[in-house]
Amino acid sequence: MTSTTPIIIDCDPGVDDSYAIAMAHAHPGFDIVAITAVEGNVPARLTRHNALCLADTLGIDCRVAFGAEKPLRKAYDRDASSIHGASGVGDVVFDPPSIEPDPKPAWDVIYEEAIKAEGRLILFATGPLTNIALTLQHHPDLPKYINRFCIMGGGTFGNITKFAEFNVFIDPTAAREVFAQLPVEMIGLNITHAAALTEADFQEMLAIGGDSRPSKMLHELATFSERQSHLPGSDNSVIHDAVAVASVINPDLIEYDERYVYVEDGDNAENSGQTVIEPEDDPREPKCKVGMKVDRDAFAAMLKGVFHHYAE
Ligand code: RIB
Ligand code: CA
Repeated sequence: MTSTTPIIIDCDPGVDDSYAIAMAHAHPGFDIVAITAVEGNVPARLTRHNALCLADTLGIDCRVAFGAEKPLRKAYDRDASSIHGASGVGDVVFDPPSIEPDPKPAWDVIYEEAIKAEGRLILFATGPLTNIALTLQHHPDLPKYINRFCIMGGGTFGNITKFAEFNVFIDPTAAREVFAQLPVEMIGLNITHAAALTEADFQEMLAIGGDSRPSKMLHELATFSERQSHLPGSDNSVIHDAVAVASVINPDLIEYDERYVYVEDGDNAENSGQTVIEPEDDPREPKCKVGMKVDRDAFAAMLKGVFHHYAE
């Protein structure tokens, strides 16, 4: 029996967060030890509920912990419900969750599990980085227990402004603190847009059978995404967060540049929320692995593999 790697997914579910969690759970090499919820696509009340329901529906035996309800500094003044639906998970209607959240807050659960994993933990963040920043504030020695830290966020351009991607835009101060303390693997918009799925990809996923609750949930998500997640001016749809999980499952999926990256968090800065990618000769640490190229067909095949996994 090959050993599994403990992982945590900090997320703001979220349609694409839901695919990411389903992909992680389907991977035999991962053991999801915790799912932690943060404000983001929809208010924390909903991301918390969705995180519980996703763990319950997918049959993930893990801690589900609740984190921040608002960004570190600026008010949480917008969400992405126009993209993810009022519930945050498209048209998916969950059964009432049969599991309870962990009594401890996300930042203590992340730290406890990092210590328990003895340096093997892979931490994913697919929402605003508020919980990760709070974990670092409460437990400054967190970095020594983290094996890898992979985010969906940032990138070479924005989707809220031309500079800022949503997850970083919502809490730029948290992102600034996190990028300064952890070696980030950044799966940004330049990657997730390049990995967008075609109509034919969706037709293929929707044709994959399966009567299980996870299968039905994936079909509902795909039906919603095919309609709702189009890239501007394109028939292709983007499933941002699953690309971050796929990048760790398949080491050949992404080509990276090692760069120093900081986050602009000035309230009045036109580029607030920008992940500023410095030139290759900038000696500052920690270096960020900036995703620069993606094998789109390989990602599409991996996502289809998730549908087949739950249809078995
Ligand atoms: O900009 C895309 C990111 O913002 C995704 O993680 C999506 O779920 C939202 O959180
Ligand atoms: Ca997300």
